[in-house]
Amino acid sequence: MTIRVLHVASELYPLLKTGGLADVTAALPVALIEQGADARVLLPGFASVAAGLADLRPVARLSRSFGAPEASLELGRLPGSELPVYMIRADALYDRPGNPYLDAEQVPYGDNAQRFALLGWAAAELAQHADPDWAPRIVHAHDWHAGLAPAYLRAAARARGHGDPHSPLSSSSSPRAGVRSVFTIHNLAYQGIFPAQQFDLLGLPADFFDMHGVEFYGQLSFLKAGLYFADKITTVSPTYAREIQTVAQGCGLEALLKGRAHDLLGILNGVDYAIWNPAHDDAIATHYSSAHMSGKQRCKTALQTHLKLAQRHDAPLFGVVSRLTEQKGLDLLLGALPEIVARGGQLVVLGTGDASLEQGFTRAARQHPDAVAVELGFDETLAHAIVAGADVMVVPSRFEPCGLTQLYALAYGALPLVHRVGGLADTVVDTSLENLADGLATGFVFERFEPDALAAAIRRAFALYARSHDWRETRARGMEQDFGWAASAQRYMALYRELA
Ligand code: ADP
Ligand code: GLC
Repeated sequence: MTIRVLHVASELYPLLKTGGLADVTAALPVALIEQGADARVLLPGFASVAAGLADLRPVARLSRSFGAPEASLELGRLPGSELPVYMIRADALYDRPGNPYLDAEQVPYGDNAQRFALLGWAAAELAQHADPDWAPRIVHAHDWHAGLAPAYLRAAARARGHGDPHSPLSSSSSPRAGVRSVFTIHNLAYQGIFPAQQFDLLGLPADFFDMHGVEFYGQLSFLKAGLYFADKITTVSPTYAREIQTVAQGCGLEALLKGRAHDLLGILNGVDYAIWNPAHDDAIATHYSSAHMSGKQRCKTALQTHLKLAQRHDAPLFGVVSRLTEQKGLDLLLGALPEIVARGGQLVVLGTGDASLEQGFTRAARQHPDAVAVELGFDETLAHAIVAGADVMVVPSRFEPCGLTQLYALAYGALPLVHRVGGLADTVVDTSLENLADGLATGFVFERFEPDALAAAIRRAFALYARSHDWRETRARGMEQDFGWAASAQRYMALYRELA
């Protein structure tokens, strides 16, 4: 039996991307199709989505529009791909320039509850055959934006008289027929919290506003809706799946997650090697591969030239490509920056976010123009050029559900330097003496989120860099790691089969 699965999300590379979510929602459905699934994606019709999809055609009018004059479903595909993508056309809610979540002042849009309720609602409508030609058996919702999809599905199932085995809301204990749901946590820290009064806008049964439901400390939480109502919960690494069941990292949801531990699974993200491969990446200066590494040196020189750094072959070049937020731990790196410069290294930072971090790195670049370069903004091409030109990619995150940059770094022969949390812990092996001796090391891992621990890892990077044979061997090992999507897609397929 072919499994029909609808991925519900707010971002999709290359149409709209603010972080790793977009990389995942673009690659995972394609990997699932390669595993035999019939996968489609549902997105809000943000301006860049409506402009970027090919062959759009109307499919259905939606029966609710959450304040927009009307809302409808269209079906198209990603240009250059066969992946079918549904888009919600509701221009009053979605057709706004810039960031999909924030206005020009970086403040969340006042109608975000309606904007993302419509996303969940449309998913549930598709599950109920809004498109007469295709309906999913599995609705797979990603992050809080899609968190109401499982809630609307549950409401619809109840309206049809199907009970719910694990919900205290159910009036009957008969198994739910039909569509099943999966909710994936890409980041527990973003919760989609709204004032309780906005619950009435959602059109959910009144008793869903409950501790056993969408209520979270007196407010409305889209994330909790997904966690509570989905049949299965996944997150993007095995370690993060454990971490979020603790008070330290559960963001107030640890009890719920612990209670649902038997339904919670960590499945590591993958890399789309069609996009992230130095052997045929058109965004980098010269192609290279583990068998032919000379191109990497040329990428480094090109990057130094482009960013007006001293063109020094022998200076270990540390790179950062990141959202500049609390999560990413770059305040710690800012503190360790003198260590890098004093030892003769260079640092390149590409990112945008917190003003204090932007200013801090900009100041450092002004103080050390030969050694430190900072580009504020979001620039996909430069991101590739940095990963290709860097010797080390630094990801010192306080917490990291999976992290993709360290995986891209491995593929490009830039040794990842990471804090041992979440997906970083699952994907990078430290260059301790024993790991080097046993041929396991792929990067630098520090345990405690403390300045001295990061500084020690940086010193370890310099020490290994000075031993060029060990450096090359470690780099080659990193480049051989296979983090392709196939293995992860198989795990999702097994989960879907179990549900269906
Ligand atoms: P997160 O999703 O938490 O931001 P990930 O490591 O999973 O972290 O994914 C980040 C993705 O966003 C990667 O594809 C990375 O290259 C990209 N990225 C982050 N910041 C920038 C930027 N300023 N310019 C270009 N790409 C960026
Ligand atoms: C989130 C997480 C990141 C993860 C990405 C894709 O943005 O912060 O760790 O890699 O989602 O799952």
